[in-house]
Amino acid sequence: MGYIDVHTHLLPFIDDGVSSKEQCVEVLQAYQKAGFDRIIATPHLYNPYVTTRTANIRAMYQWASQEASQLGIKLYLGSEVYIGSGNATNVLPFMERFVLVEVDYYSEPLFLLNQVYTLLKRGLHVVLAHVERYRWFSTTSPTACKLRELGVHFQCNVDGVENHSAAKWLSAGWIDVIASDNHGDSQLPPRLAALLQRYQDVANRMNNLFISYDTIQ
Ligand SMILES: [Fe+2]
Repeated sequence: MGYIDVHTHLLPFIDDGVSSKEQCVEVLQAYQKAGFDRIIATPHLYNPYVTTRTANIRAMYQWASQEASQLGIKLYLGSEVYIGSGNATNVLPFMERFVLVEVDYYSEPLFLLNQVYTLLKRGLHVVLAHVERYRWFSTTSPTACKLRELGVHFQCNVDGVENHSAAKWLSAGWIDVIASDNHGDSQLPPRLAALLQRYQDVANRMNNLFISYDTIQ
């Protein structure tokens, strides 16, 4: 079994990720070379700074998943859903049950717990993206504790591990997933692979989390 990356922006012309089909293929080749066999495409949804359309996402996913499969990589369709003041109802869960969510970097969203609870009630597993980036969020914040109690999985970025902004989260044992948040960088796959080698406990957690659902699609 190869590595998995569950947070990427690799669908061309869709969001602020890769900007051409050539770049997409180049990055997919870098994943193959680094030993990855599963990638989740997580284009932004409801992000106030990046506009996306589900129909375009699906069409581009069809193309990219064929390119990936020629390289022996299974590309799944998911989404990175922005939770703000509005309701994020139309999400694209990957493996039919995981939804990656992101929030504002500088202030806590008013109805975060309610919205997370709504997703959980739908039977979805919630993965909170790049926890190390939110200035209002920490291992001691009541909201973080509540999200953990609710069973929300916490993800940190390769960058966050390398620059130590995720150190407290890692040492608290609250990181379930390390992912790249790759917007088109061919260097990120080997960097992620190296971290998954280094943080075996997180790699094991990821395997437990994602392998059991892998056969659904
Ligand atoms: Fe992202």
